[in-house]
Amino acid sequence: MRVGVVGLGTMGAGIAQLCVEAGIDTVGREVTADLGERARDRIVHFLTRKVEKGQIESFEVERLSLTVDLTDLAKCDLVIEAIVEELEPKRQLFTELERICRPDTVLATNTSALSVTEIAAAVSSPERVVGMHFFNPAPLMPLVEIVRAELTVDAAFDTAFSLAETLGKHPIRCHDTPGFVVNRVLIPLLNDCIRVLDEARVTVEDLDAGMKHGAGWPMGPCELVDLVGVDVHVHASEALYEKTRETRMAPPPRLVAMKNAGLLGRKSGRGFYTY
Ligand code: 3HC
Repeated sequence: MRVGVVGLGTMGAGIAQLCVEAGIDTVGREVTADLGERARDRIVHFLTRKVEKGQIESFEVERLSLTVDLTDLAKCDLVIEAIVEELEPKRQLFTELERICRPDTVLATNTSALSVTEIAAAVSSPERVVGMHFFNPAPLMPLVEIVRAELTVDAAFDTAFSLAETLGKHPIRCHDTPGFVVNRVLIPLLNDCIRVLDEARVTVEDLDAGMKHGAGWPMGPCELVDLVGVDVHVHASEALYEKTRETRMAPPPRLVAMKNAGLLGRKSGRGFYTY
């Protein structure tokens, strides 16, 4: 099997890393060679750590070929899109992939809060479009939501499901509803947590300690928003609010202010915490 990954940011690089680790020939596409190489360096770093820790014996970095040219994805059996989380660029990309790839190539999107059906509607073969929603950090989080859009056929759905299994993940099946399963629950919950910061006049550290030690979360909500990225979380909240009109989905003003100030979490060096 040959897998294509379009967009090698945090999610795309994590997904490509999983493919390389599983011994799958992988074509990674970024807009510049420099961005592609940076992603490969990260992948090699994490896989080398796994070898050093004895978690894997070895890995073949040659499994990953980098390109800036979408036509290099022509021979892929499945392509996973992990580009910017905006509808129009995704729809545009899918029309190009439809033109480049074989008719039986499965086209998957890693979108977290957009509609897979709306992305699929951009192409003339929407039946082969499916959601494969990985969680951040993709190499560490076991879950992948396999999302059935309105017109997805079983063959495409099953191919995506079985790839997730090959990558060592725990896939679950769901339909294309706003936020799918986990974000439908997690996003309003994180927004509640942030509102509680002000309501209960609790410190960031104490709120995080509360959810870790009182609810068994592996990391506190503020740490988690910093990990996911304040901008990513605000954007996903807005997208879900737009679709559901549920007030708990709307991003708390405190998070919007943080986003506007460039306090994006780990990636900018400062969010709720300083890194
Ligand atoms: N690839 C491979 N290895 C990685 C890695 C990556 N991208 N990132 C970190 N690691 C490695 C590190 O190298 C580290 O090993 P080392 O320190 O020996 O080198 C190893 O993983 C373990 O790191 P940690 O000690 O930080 O691991 P923890 O045991 O603390 O667990 C965690 C980390 C899995 C992130 C855990 O804290 C957790 O489960 N947190 C919750 C995360 C979560 O909820 N994610 C979902 C976010 S919502 C989402 O993604 C939806 C989206 O649509 C917005």
